Amino acid sequence: MHKIFIYRVALVAALAGLLFGLDIGVISGALPFLQQDLNLTVSAEGWIVSSVLFSAAVGAIASGWLSSYWGRKNSILLSAILFAIASLGSGFAKNYEFLIIMRIVLGFAVGVATYNAPIYISEIAPANIRGRLVTFYQFMITFGILLAFFSDYIFTPDGNWRAMLSIISAPAFIMVLLVLSLPKSPRWLMLNGFHEQAQAVLRKLVSPAEYESSLSELKTSASHHESLGDLLRQKPFLKIVCFGIVLQMIQQFSGMNGILYFAPEMFAHSGFVSHTDQMWATFLIGLVNMVSTIFALRFVETMGRRKVLYLSGGLILVSTIILALIFTFNTQVNQFTGELSLLVIFLFIIGFALGYGPIIWTLCSEVFPLNGRAFAMSCATTSNWAANGLVGAFTLPLMTSMGMGNYFFLLAGFAIVSLLYFRLFVPETKNVHLERLEMNLRNNVPLREIGEVK
Ligand code: BGC
Repeated sequence: MHKIFIYRVALVAALAGLLFGLDIGVISGALPFLQQDLNLTVSAEGWIVSSVLFSAAVGAIASGWLSSYWGRKNSILLSAILFAIASLGSGFAKNYEFLIIMRIVLGFAVGVATYNAPIYISEIAPANIRGRLVTFYQFMITFGILLAFFSDYIFTPDGNWRAMLSIISAPAFIMVLLVLSLPKSPRWLMLNGFHEQAQAVLRKLVSPAEYESSLSELKTSASHHESLGDLLRQKPFLKIVCFGIVLQMIQQFSGMNGILYFAPEMFAHSGFVSHTDQMWATFLIGLVNMVSTIFALRFVETMGRRKVLYLSGGLILVSTIILALIFTFNTQVNQFTGELSLLVIFLFIIGFALGYGPIIWTLCSEVFPLNGRAFAMSCATTSNWAANGLVGAFTLPLMTSMGMGNYFFLLAGFAIVSLLYFRLFVPETKNVHLERLEMNLRNNVPLREIGEVK
């Protein structure tokens, strides 16, 4: 009974991931037609892509405040409303300026959603399925990307960019209705002095046997009332904020979004000649990404966070080295190199989808202390979006100036640094209560050990 309720609640919150994915996936297919219809220059096209990324970073900054004062649920609701309006508005845009305004609103909505949904899910989830539920949010991101690739594919023959951009408002409207039925986060309620409501929600989330111990842990974390200034003077807090920022940069600089945004161009370099073949290969990438995330749902709770991250980093390292070798030594592109590189890109995607995607969001939703969670998560999400913006802006220039071979060697070097970072700093949080993580952190236990019983 509790489980069904929790899964239902987490499913609705995870729809925020769907919006995130739809937004990331939709623009590549619409861009060529937008360019023709609205007569866009190259830099205007660039702004259409990056305006969303940078305003998502602003949304994530604002979320620190929004989520503390308004709560996680209301912030998710706001993001769904803005997303629905702005995506519909984009489809009706008469000119470039209006489209940019809509894209900025859309980005803000996605920034707010990506901040609040993982926090909300981890705050309602019991320790033993928390990783799986936050991974489910990642699954919805990949599903959204795939749906967007699919709808782009469907509307491509007519060049109907208006339909591509506006159809993604439908799930957002549905989400607005569903979010209304969500309970508020018990941790947020407790922190803001709504003790009775917090207890009522907690009763629905945990079994009667666990109720008393969960309540007392919750009260202890909510009893810390330091101001942000106080928190920032504490070494453990600074450490964990930096940890979140670095993890999110690792996720973005792995190069995953470079592949998602520019897959057709990459395939053109590696031997896929026709536009249809390039789009088809891009669609397959979305599919592999989604299917691999289904495996992550299992691994996150069985193997644990740390081992999955090693596996994920290992696959990314091997695949980037092979891609670097293919592009460096094979100057004659043909169908064979095209197919070979597609297979290796699949390996890269599997690596990302198993670990860097789900586990990094999961860890960020778990490790921050309740009192400073809003600020810390805001830093982490903002760095995710800012790094995403940089990847969007610099991948193509880097590929052309360094050459594809060297570009992939660069990613391989980065994968090695990331693996070292995981080895030194990532704690195992599988099956550990959020309150224990917080207690160990406050006691200045080394980061790598905060999931252990001390
Ligand atoms: C990342 C996104 C990425 C997506 C791909 C997410 O975890 O934050 O930037 O596009 O995974 O599946």
